[in-house]
Amino acid sequence: MIENAKTHWDTVYRTKAPDAVSWYRPHLETSIDLIQRVAPDSSASIIDIGGGESTLVDDLLAKGYRDVSVLDISPTAIEVARKRIGDLARHVTWMVADATQAALPSQRYDVWHDRVVFHFLTTQEERTAYVQRVAGSMKLGGHVIMATFGPEGPTKCSGFDVVRYDAQSLHAEFGRHFQLMESATELHQTPFGTTQQFLYCLCRVE
Ligand SMILES: C[S@@+](CC[C@H](N)C(=O)[O-])C[C@H]1O[C@@H](n2cnc3c(N)ncnc32)[C@H](O)[C@@H]1O
Repeated sequence: MIENAKTHWDTVYRTKAPDAVSWYRPHLETSIDLIQRVAPDSSASIIDIGGGESTLVDDLLAKGYRDVSVLDISPTAIEVARKRIGDLARHVTWMVADATQAALPSQRYDVWHDRVVFHFLTTQEERTAYVQRVAGSMKLGGHVIMATFGPEGPTKCSGFDVVRYDAQSLHAEFGRHFQLMESATELHQTPFGTTQQFLYCLCRVE
């Protein structure tokens, strides 16, 4: 992703409170439910892509998971999350990186989680680079949980154009090594009193 995206995201997190961004939710319940369902064992290795300042990492640690990684392009977001968690932050691998360029370990993760990050990748080149990273760093039999804006979601997010997906078009970006297990739309309530349609997809790595 281009350098001004990194500047953009870091400025967002330097200038806005965690609960003053449209994607804020106190807890990512749908994500937590899916993660617990596909990886009930607390030894599971989980990576949250574009985790930002979300509380998913706090909730996973509270549920006993001890192999959690959070990757984000914004150093400010990573620092805010790390400080908020305090002592338990030592159980987390923090990565400041672009998800389309990150050097990730091979066949390392049981769960890949991305809530509203992939939809910012508007070129095929970026999406291919992203999917290569998923394919290379996931264990066989692992699960990929993706949330994007759905077909009736907004066309922009945080000022950027986004690609909206239905389950078939999102799965098509990943290809035959990923089996689409389930999908659902969700109406996200923004802190500003509006709603946005999200699409959640769960895929298994074949
Ligand atoms: C809409 S926010 C969602 C944050 C979080 N996943 C949540 O649900 O609260 C998008 C996040 O993706 C990060 N991001 C955007 N582009 C990225 C990229 N190419 N690589 C890594 N992180 C990225 C941003 O810094 C931001 O934290």
